[in-house]
Amino acid sequence: MCGIVGVVADPEIIGNTAPMLVQGLRRLEYRGYDSAGFALIECSSYRLLVFKDKGRINDVVESYNVDKHCAVSGIAHTRWATHGEPNTVNAHPHVDCRGEIAVVHNGIIKNFAELRQLLEEKGHVFRSETDTEVVAHLLEEYLRNGSSMWEAFKRLVRVIEGAYAIAVIYSREPHRIYFARKVSPLVIGLGEGFMMVASDIPSMLQYTKRFVALNDGEYGYIEPYRLYLEKDGRAVEWRHRVMTVTWSIEDAEKGGYPHYMLKEIMEQPRVLFETYTGLASSRELENAAKLLSNAEKIFVTGAGTSYHAGLVFAYYMARIAKRPVIPFISSEYLAYRDMDHSNSVLVAISQSGETIDTLQAVRSFKSSGGRVIAVSNVIGSTIPREADVTVYTRAGPEIGVAATKTFLTQVLALTGMALTLAQYNGSMTQNEYRKAMDTLKNAGHAASAGIDRSIRAVELLASSLRSKGNIYVLGRGLGVALAYEAALKIKEVSYIHAEAYPAGESKHGPIALVEDGFPVIFVGVPPREELHEKLQSNVMEMKARGASTIVVGVSGYDDLKGVDFYIDVGNYDEILAPYAVVPPFQLLAYKLAVMLNRDPDKPRNLAKTVTVE
Ligand code: F6R
Repeated sequence: MCGIVGVVADPEIIGNTAPMLVQGLRRLEYRGYDSAGFALIECSSYRLLVFKDKGRINDVVESYNVDKHCAVSGIAHTRWATHGEPNTVNAHPHVDCRGEIAVVHNGIIKNFAELRQLLEEKGHVFRSETDTEVVAHLLEEYLRNGSSMWEAFKRLVRVIEGAYAIAVIYSREPHRIYFARKVSPLVIGLGEGFMMVASDIPSMLQYTKRFVALNDGEYGYIEPYRLYLEKDGRAVEWRHRVMTVTWSIEDAEKGGYPHYMLKEIMEQPRVLFETYTGLASSRELENAAKLLSNAEKIFVTGAGTSYHAGLVFAYYMARIAKRPVIPFISSEYLAYRDMDHSNSVLVAISQSGETIDTLQAVRSFKSSGGRVIAVSNVIGSTIPREADVTVYTRAGPEIGVAATKTFLTQVLALTGMALTLAQYNGSMTQNEYRKAMDTLKNAGHAASAGIDRSIRAVELLASSLRSKGNIYVLGRGLGVALAYEAALKIKEVSYIHAEAYPAGESKHGPIALVEDGFPVIFVGVPPREELHEKLQSNVMEMKARGASTIVVGVSGYDDLKGVDFYIDVGNYDEILAPYAVVPPFQLLAYKLAVMLNRDPDKPRNLAKTVTVE
């Protein structure tokens, strides 16, 4: 999975597009960062220049002085390897034999091996092991046979199979960028005297606020004053699809914090409030609840953090709306493939709206008659566009690879959905519903208290945990989903092995690992009357094996015996507890990463949006 960006401009308006490409690509680094590259069409000579290398974007920019070159147009790529190891040769852009065509690509071209063989038989010499290089050679081959570039590009789109977002420049047509989208996301940015194409909106936000999100199967080209779009050989009218985004560039930048992750943790109080008010002034929750109330079976899916939000949803649906929900990890959708879903609703959670596993689950449910509710943070992304109803979180762009603010805003949106359904199906009276929604309005305050009350203690806790190799996080009830999320956050940014279990499960296996000094963190959530005694037994079991015991919880767990370290986030009920309890864990993960010299914004081996299976 990778990020791509391209710019074509009127030189009278924008003298040099290279700095725009560099800036745009930097914002896409979250999509992959094992290598990066640029292809520029030089201002006066119209020569194609290619600069690419293994490593981070800044290293490539500095080694080749990329932004010092003058370009009328260009494309750029940040890579997360799928075919071929990360090295200079495999880095994008890829070029044809004559060095006139450059290609960047995100996704996988499934039939690349057979295409490559055909092209090699015709004398094409390949330099890399990538699937992408076939695109450059195929286009070259069609041009050799007398096609124009536009004809060649259309033919290419008919021939290649798989998932792709592609951008192509051709030195003989310096004022045009060709693009195509199938499965992998691609957005056009409409500027004044320039046009951009990129994998997402934030990468273009510094330059324009007007966008057209491409639909599956669309392809075309941009010129400084023109967007031309086609699908299946027919021109597509796009003007009614232009969306104007209100995010500011500051929303996408660090705002004075040393890392995006910290900035995004700290802005949770604000974005929770914005998500609440945005939902309260739209009909999104009502539309979703209507669909849910008519469903015989309800499923919820997502990957990683989004799946954990799904577990919170399943919990609230059972407790509040008295409806059982079947949660599954989106990559496991095949288990439900051969069922009749005509009376089912799938709630598909994806902050990016582009995760391929979740998209496949959505498509599989739809093809067997199911209806889909998407919960997403990105307007115009693929999953919302394929869903019947979408509930948007209003978290703004999340740049840190680890999901933080998007998790709690998902939890808020899903809780709102469960409450609205409970009111529809009579599990709650109007009055109870109104009271619960009023409580939810305070999610931001709870997050703020969770941060304030834990920030010092987390520093101490992180110092004592930094040398540990393993951590358990245990919870009960609502605390189970939050424990899963806490353990994921700790392991993905600090690389300390952290594992979560329902506390009751620990004695069915995991406790075997516990010895002197093994840290076990307990998540303390309401209802205290039901959980306190049980959690007490779990703490004692661990203590008896020498564990170092920690509790992060709402007030009322301070009298637990055998606890070595306690973080009390304040007194919150079941609706508000997640917003106060989760931030300390996010901060702990962040602090551990920083103490251990890991980059919390770009954990190794990870990419923010996973668009390959
Ligand atoms: C963890 C994390 C990932 C994502 C997962 C799903 O911090 O960020 O586990 O939650 O890749 O991504 P979305 O929500 O975009 O579908």
